[in-house]
Amino acid sequence: MNPVKIGLLGLGTVGGGTVNVLRRNADEITRRAGREIQICRASTRDLQRSRICDTTGIALTQDPLEIVNDPDIQIVVELIGGETLAKELVLKALDNGKHVVTANKALIALHGNEIFAKAREKGLMVAFEPAVAGGIPIIKAIREGLTGNRVEWLAGIINGTCNYILTEMRDKGRDFEDVLQEAQALGYAEADPTFDVEGIDAAHKLTILASIAFGIPLQFDKVYVEGISGVTRLDVTYAEALGYRIKLLGVARRSEKGIELRVHPTLIPYRRLIANVDGVMNAVVVKGDAVGPTLYYGAGAGADPTASSVVADIVDVVRALTSDPENRVPHLAFQPTALADTPVLPIGDIETAYYLRLSAEDKPGVLADVTRILAGRNISIEAIIQKEPLTGESHLPIIMLTHKVPERELNAAIAEIEALATINKPVKRIRMETLG
Ligand code: HSE
Repeated sequence: MNPVKIGLLGLGTVGGGTVNVLRRNADEITRRAGREIQICRASTRDLQRSRICDTTGIALTQDPLEIVNDPDIQIVVELIGGETLAKELVLKALDNGKHVVTANKALIALHGNEIFAKAREKGLMVAFEPAVAGGIPIIKAIREGLTGNRVEWLAGIINGTCNYILTEMRDKGRDFEDVLQEAQALGYAEADPTFDVEGIDAAHKLTILASIAFGIPLQFDKVYVEGISGVTRLDVTYAEALGYRIKLLGVARRSEKGIELRVHPTLIPYRRLIANVDGVMNAVVVKGDAVGPTLYYGAGAGADPTASSVVADIVDVVRALTSDPENRVPHLAFQPTALADTPVLPIGDIETAYYLRLSAEDKPGVLADVTRILAGRNISIEAIIQKEPLTGESHLPIIMLTHKVPERELNAAIAEIEALATINKPVKRIRMETLG
């Protein structure tokens, strides 16, 4: 059989890794795919730049449109990132009858509904395993491996940069800014690191996971997003003392009222496996009604790990080239006509437990005022610790853990507490998940 011809858009870290993995494991990959896979063309912004891969035999161009319009190319692999040009190229590739593999989480989270509709109209595949959690085959696991389950919830550490920063803050007592600079220098962070630290990158990935878990359209705009830039070394230390780790978690949960979609710093009991996922590693827990909790762990970024997912997608597409489009695995796991319109809940409607850190004047009655406000709103306290004032400060830190409470109610209580003359604003609030 003739080799399958691939065109790569982008020859950076992931593109270079893809060339390397396809070359290194060519025999095994051909035995699996049933056909040889050949990267014939690749686009790059800079033809002279030094690369991590050998490009011998690959025709390079600075114009990605040449590849998208090349009649010989059967599969376009989009690895340039960003939304605008990537979307234009992917839609053009589909118009030209080419299957697509993409590592672009923003593209799928924001424009996936439109892209999949076009792909269906043309009978083409769009595969996106590398878009979520790098080398972890989490799309495949949820979309195919757990297909017999009703997924109840999933929770993931899906941004390596944030996990690296939080791990360094905890282990080495370092400050947020200092670690961020290092993460940038090491190449973990996105081109704009705000995407990482403000939770946007994780929200893109959560949007995709929630769609394939619950059979709902992609709805990035409904995700509640809070990053880690407000997490301090103090919070990390106090959480640890109480038996918790702080992680940036993406949570998607089905409740009776609707679906929760949220990304925020989260206290997790340290005895949970996922609380021990450190550094740049990623992990996702998926709870299915039949299988129970399952955990997927691995490298969430990097050249070879992400290439592992790119190549897996290419092989999937190659195997399905001759199959009837109606009988392929649906892009979002559920048949496109069967997607549900279950509402995504506003953050005020969700219920979790909370970590609160107050800065309080050290005098009789202050704590009583605070607990009276909480009791008045039916908020039950699970634990409370009072620390010595920090050097040179008149106020002392009080840390409280609450039982589960609707967020709207907790926000109202915080507003009342912040109005007390004896409490410094703001009251710090971090959500907690037991993931039991
Ligand atoms: N910036 C991302 C991260 C890269 O830190 O996880 C992988 O999507």
